[in-house]
Amino acid sequence: MRIGTPLSANSTRVMLLGAGELGKEVAIELQRLGAEVIAVDRYPNAPAMQVAHRSHVIPMTDPQVLNGIIMAEAPHIIVPEIEAIATEALAAIEAAGVARVIPTGRAVHLTMNREGIRRLAAEELGLPTSPYAFVGSAAELAEAAHRIGLPVFVKPVMSSSGKGQSMIDALEDAANAWAHAQSSGRVQTARVIVEERIDFDFEITLLTVRSMREGAVRTDFCAPIGHRQVQGDYVESWQPQAMSPAALAAAQDIARKVTDALGGLGVFGVELFVRGDEVWFSEVSPRPHDTGLVTLATQTMSEFALHARAILGLPVDVSQRDIGASAVIYGGMDAPGIAFEGVDEALSVPTADLRLFGKPESYERRRMGVATARGDTVEQARERAREAASKVRPVQG
Ligand SMILES: Nc1ncnc2c1ncn2[C@@H]1O[C@H](COP(=O)(O)OP(=O)(O)O)[C@@H](O)[C@H]1O
Ligand SMILES: [Mg+2]
Repeated sequence: MRIGTPLSANSTRVMLLGAGELGKEVAIELQRLGAEVIAVDRYPNAPAMQVAHRSHVIPMTDPQVLNGIIMAEAPHIIVPEIEAIATEALAAIEAAGVARVIPTGRAVHLTMNREGIRRLAAEELGLPTSPYAFVGSAAELAEAAHRIGLPVFVKPVMSSSGKGQSMIDALEDAANAWAHAQSSGRVQTARVIVEERIDFDFEITLLTVRSMREGAVRTDFCAPIGHRQVQGDYVESWQPQAMSPAALAAAQDIARKVTDALGGLGVFGVELFVRGDEVWFSEVSPRPHDTGLVTLATQTMSEFALHARAILGLPVDVSQRDIGASAVIYGGMDAPGIAFEGVDEALSVPTADLRLFGKPESYERRRMGVATARGDTVEQARERAREAASKVRPVQG
């Protein structure tokens, strides 16, 4: 394993496809290890662009444009950070041996569509999931909801962060759920998943890392991260989430099976529902997970440092050092170039730390930053993180 000098002929070039807040932290960790970082996104001044060696603004869903930028930059490693990417272009790049795709082209392709990953998990690997159906019309949706049993969740097959998602508990709502999914899906695929609501005690993200050690791939698990979602978007997370030894073993078994099947190197965010000793697979991100921002405060190596090391073929350390929590800071308004007040008060909360992502434009429900804190207990850490987040006041330019 060797790393060259950035901006020279022997540089180790890593291209991030998607340059948001998670990519920004990955870029910083890659910079620390001496990689040359190229950030790509569909809008200028995206967070990771601000800490990369170079950046490009392109429509990443256009395979020709994407291929062109990859050929021009000749990265050794391509790191997708979001799902809305022309994955067919990545598959071709990988097949031609032009660059390594993290974790693999197939994994990126399968996980960008709920149907690909759900069928792999439930039908090929036999993992426990909620009962589900994929449908292509409002009438089929109502029929599936009736068959599966209410309440059900309805989600566009291509969407993230709760976009286009709804829960229905009456069949009359099927038409609305269909229309909502059509209006907010990423791509007009006219296809949604209908799945039974799992009445879980809590949900976790199990960060699972595939890395090289002494010439072989190994799998490590971080301590489970608990989180709270509002309308499909994470608002706070904490680590560790207490769970029974049987549930933890089941969670790790599921995470190992699904990440083995996806292959490659890097961090995976395996989302699981837990009730007592019972565990259901929900979905998996083949990359660091937003709820894992808490690891900036809790682990010896954050999920971003773990990802950077793993994709470069370096060994990792998944140990947890502290109990901690994270709380999201929303924009609270639609405006470009906003400012933040109360940062001093936020950082006066014991153990508190902040990330302000530097996004050029704020929306009401856009994640603009995150507060983290440590504590003697999860409860104390959560209270501190929430308090710190609440002190930060987004204001008009
Ligand atoms: N079948 C389900 N049962 C219970 N809660 C669910 C179910 N599906 C989704 N949710 C809730 O909605 C959140 C977002 O759903 P998810 O499938 O993870 O979509 P996304 O890809 O947008 O993150 C989950 O974290 C969970 O809180
Ligand atoms: Mg999710």
